[in-house]
Amino acid sequence: MYSEKVMDHFSNPRNMGEIENPSGVGTVGNAKCGDIMRMYLDVDENGVIRDVKFKTFGCGAAVATSSMATELVKGKTVEEALQVTNKAVMEALDGLPPVKVHCSLLAEEAIHAALWDYAKKQGITIEGLQEPVNDIGEK
Ligand code: FES
Repeated sequence: MYSEKVMDHFSNPRNMGEIENPSGVGTVGNAKCGDIMRMYLDVDENGVIRDVKFKTFGCGAAVATSSMATELVKGKTVEEALQVTNKAVMEALDGLPPVKVHCSLLAEEAIHAALWDYAKKQGITIEGLQEPVNDIGEK
């Protein structure tokens, strides 16, 4: 049912934890399943994501997609991180079962929520970034 990559990221999640005094942090939730995902970003002065950590209170696919999402945004600029969609996360994981697609969406939304918080703190606008609708605002 799950690809080897999903199982790997579920069993050995990358970048799990938190960042103290993050440049941006975002928490999103899915009202239906009740799962919650939080992303922390450490962004340097050139707008490059130097470090990223996550905490996920949710299903195994949510853990795997958070883990993969952190790997995909690390080292990227904040603008490039916007291109890391749930589709990109799913592809990198060699797919997810249809009932688990929303878990990858949560990962995309968590990145966006953290980027939104970063932009707000910096007083800047990131082209193409919209306020995430499922941002539950807990830091
Ligand atoms: Fe909801 Fe996976 S079941 S995030």
